[in-house]
Amino acid sequence: MALINNAHLRDKIRNAQNVAVLTGAGISAESGIPTFRGENGIWNKLSPQELASFEAFYRNAAMVVEWYRQRRQIINNASPNPGHRALVEIEKLFPHFTLITQNIDGLHQRAGSHNTIELHGNIMENYCIRCGRHFNITEFDHIIDTSFDHVPRCDCGGLIRPNVVWFGEMLPQDALEHAFQAAEKSDLFISVGTSAQVRPAADLPFLAHENGAMLIEINTELTPLTPLVEAFFQGPAGIILPQLHQEMQEIRQAA
Ligand code: OAD
Repeated sequence: MALINNAHLRDKIRNAQNVAVLTGAGISAESGIPTFRGENGIWNKLSPQELASFEAFYRNAAMVVEWYRQRRQIINNASPNPGHRALVEIEKLFPHFTLITQNIDGLHQRAGSHNTIELHGNIMENYCIRCGRHFNITEFDHIIDTSFDHVPRCDCGGLIRPNVVWFGEMLPQDALEHAFQAAEKSDLFISVGTSAQVRPAADLPFLAHENGAMLIEINTELTPLTPLVEAFFQGPAGIILPQLHQEMQEIRQAA
């Protein structure tokens, strides 16, 4: 059965020049990376304040970096799934396409997406909080393993932290500005696998809508965004996105 059977949406897809997509943990769930909320969500079992905040890192850096190392291993062992790959193909259909992700797993880039904005950082990067020096994963792991207390310290004495946004922290300014611009000028905005609860990322589809974009949502569950969208496709992103790509391609080619 066709997903897009709404004439209004078909027209929008046919004519869209600017497309923005916001992804969340749900798109990587089928790659085996746990989501934060919902069934089996990380934050159901562990406290974000104890693992994903600067205070936690300052109190117990060894525990926080070990937790991130475990997450990094899960991500290293994971591969992009058909949902990530379909977004690579959807990018090719439109003159301007921006993929905004809240995920820190880098799977969109590994799949081959080009114009990607990482709002919450990237788990593979680390930097010194004092001098700002960046460390690749090999250097970072070596520093942890050879430190007497498993706390990663730079030569300058500063603590080395993962380049991810923690609770209570600002998002990277450049990334956020670009994401807001892309949302504002989008004709079509697609939200995929996000609970649409964590601001400011959650504001993006609302901003797009206020500026005239048509919204599509793909999620296994309803979210606070659902009442606003033109089309809600309920199901796993790895199934829905390839079908959406196929139908979008047919519509664009017929134009
Ligand atoms: P959440 O874990 O809050 O939400 C994941 C969403 O994906 C839920 O709405 C699920 O219903 C949906 N979902 C699960 N499996 C899916 C699938 N196979 N296909 C489609 N949808 C699926 O993740 P985010 O919205 O990304 O922030 O969370 C936002 C932020 O909260 C994260 O970036 C992280 C977290 O705290 C920071 O670390 C700063």
